[in-house]
Amino acid sequence: MAYIERYGHGGDLLTARQLFLMDSKQLLDFSANINPLGPPPRLIELLKEQVETIVHYPDPAHRILKQELAKKHSVLPEQILIGNGAAECISLVILGLQPQTAGVIYPCFSEYEQLAAAYGAKIKPCYGKLENDFKPNRSDLLQLIAETDLVFVGHPNNPTGVLYSREELIEMAEQAQKTNTYLVIDEAFIDFLPNPKQTSLLKELDRFKQVILLRSMTKFYAIPGLRLGYALAHPGLIAKLQAKQVTWSVNQMALIAGEAALNEKEHEEKTIVLVQEQRNNVKRSIEENLGWRVFPGQANFLLVRITDKMTAAELQWSMGQKGILIRSCAMYPGLTKQDFRIAIRTEKENQCLIQALIEVYIKNETW
Ligand SMILES: Cc1ncc(COP(=O)(O)O)c(C=O)c1O
Repeated sequence: MAYIERYGHGGDLLTARQLFLMDSKQLLDFSANINPLGPPPRLIELLKEQVETIVHYPDPAHRILKQELAKKHSVLPEQILIGNGAAECISLVILGLQPQTAGVIYPCFSEYEQLAAAYGAKIKPCYGKLENDFKPNRSDLLQLIAETDLVFVGHPNNPTGVLYSREELIEMAEQAQKTNTYLVIDEAFIDFLPNPKQTSLLKELDRFKQVILLRSMTKFYAIPGLRLGYALAHPGLIAKLQAKQVTWSVNQMALIAGEAALNEKEHEEKTIVLVQEQRNNVKRSIEENLGWRVFPGQANFLLVRITDKMTAAELQWSMGQKGILIRSCAMYPGLTKQDFRIAIRTEKENQCLIQALIEVYIKNETW
């Protein structure tokens, strides 16, 4: 049972408005994991200035953004595919590589399974281990790679926050190479991590020709409504993905936003510092005030297991009455009806969240 995830995801403000009879300005959204500082300050201004360029088609080859991203990541432009969000890249990976079997590690982002199944792949699951904060066993993971044509790995994983070490990533890639399996590492949230924690196979793409990295620009730059993401891989793989893409699927305003966002270093650094600090505060505060288990997330969200007195759906409903949206995780395979996820927002907003959780759960105010 969940209220606002009618279409499978958090951040559905229309559903929330209808359920809780509030307008968007009254809602504080912890159900989608978006940069709490919003887009870089100059970005909105620039989009307003450039809005008249929508009378032209966008560049079908995304040349400028590809060049900028190639510079940023020290790769060739041919190693990059720009997509209408990382979600489109997931779809193109499946369409372009045509796996017959796709491996997923539950609990994980639902689109891996949904798109792979929709395009005809058979899903093969493995489960993260509760006693290891949902990291899968090494042997299960290596076996999954051996037994499938393509495996999705969230890094950091949504909703658990599981992150892999460099050695673990290399071992997965070596296994993928050996067993001729595509390894899709979804790094949609990696930008929120401080640099030393951003373990990635980015520098290893020439060596591992089966590896595809996915990045999202919608979360870190707070433009989910505009849609922008990209994939990084060997040029041969990128060409296969690109062959399945609808021309102009990435719109002009998204390309402009992407090019501008990459020059906003100060905003990036401020975001990373805020998220790290606030995540620790929110985790401690929930543990101390409510006594719930908070899993050790690494990105801009936390997975929480509420004690038996109440389900996550009941909590979501009561919090919604107060204008605060949280993400029930009951529908994730591998999780329970006691699990929910919250985004990390600004200090003041996080305090509102904690206060409301205490009112609902300890003081029984609204249920
Ligand atoms: C793990 C993960 N990957 C990819 C996506 C899709 O991101 P985008 O908005 O760039 O399509 C999401 C969105 O929630 C996500 O959680």
